Amino acid sequence: MYKAIEIRKSIRSYEKKPLSNKDKEKVSKIIKLVENKKGPFNNSAHFFFIDNNEKKKKIGTYGFIKNPPSFIGGVVENNLKGMVDFGFLFEEVILRLTEANLGTVWLGGTYKRSDFDVEVSDNEIIAAVSPVGYPTKKSIREKIIRKASKANKRKPFNELFFLGEKLQPIDENHKYYQYLKAIQLAPSASNKQPWRVVLIDNAFHFFLKRTKGYGDKLKIDIQAIDIGIALSHLCLTLKEDNLSFKFINNKPSNLENCEYILSVQINKA
Ligand SMILES: Cc1cc2nc3c(=O)[nH]c(=O)nc-3n(C[C@H](O)[C@H](O)[C@H](O)COP(=O)(O)O)c2cc1C
Repeated sequence: MYKAIEIRKSIRSYEKKPLSNKDKEKVSKIIKLVENKKGPFNNSAHFFFIDNNEKKKKIGTYGFIKNPPSFIGGVVENNLKGMVDFGFLFEEVILRLTEANLGTVWLGGTYKRSDFDVEVSDNEIIAAVSPVGYPTKKSIREKIIRKASKANKRKPFNELFFLGEKLQPIDENHKYYQYLKAIQLAPSASNKQPWRVVLIDNAFHFFLKRTKGYGDKLKIDIQAIDIGIALSHLCLTLKEDNLSFKFINNKPSNLENCEYILSVQINKA
């Protein structure tokens, strides 16, 4: 998963060809697998997969997405915890699709149920969707260029991560450095990177630093999704390293202008 975290990039331009049957099966399998899981706040999500080539009314009115052959998306309870859990679960889908060499891009915002013909109860909402397809050659080239400049596309460690109650900087020799790196690489809406983490002993305490006014017009708490994505990157890499952990509600001293969400505690061997 760490490798998928490193190579995943938003793909907005796709080859003009439908997904192969084999890849369609892969997408369905991945969705099914993650649908059986729960997020840190115990919500699960329902996912859908729509083949643009089979659908009469084509999805793809998003002008900036070129030739999307299919879409996935998900429905979840519309509250902060639901959004965190959605971000957590849908990012696992995105990373597994990345491992299968399929291109994706998170599209958050407000989608009507009629856009996708899916069932949505009154307390639920379509939290996000993503096209699924084969990245164009151009976007592969773009990827290489973007990779070279990757370092300056995320906020530096000293803005995002803090060590101990005294909120000290974390250096590259810290034993959990790579897990913080996995968090830093997380995608976020408009690349706002609203996650902040205080690391105390074996616990990663997650805070949300909201961008003032951002997302106010949306029906969903889009920056709560971002927190779920960051949590997903941490938990998937911990699992990959066979480190067990639990989610706890244990707010340490405050981070200025931040909202505490929850903590991930690594179990000591
Ligand atoms: C919750 C969420 C919503 C997003 N919505 C959009 C969107 O509506 N349109 C878009 O082009 N990109 C959208 N993105 C993609 C981000 O702009 C992108 O992840 C970020 O700029 C980082 O770039 P990267 O994904 O290539 O690493 C969204 C990302 C997230 C996490």
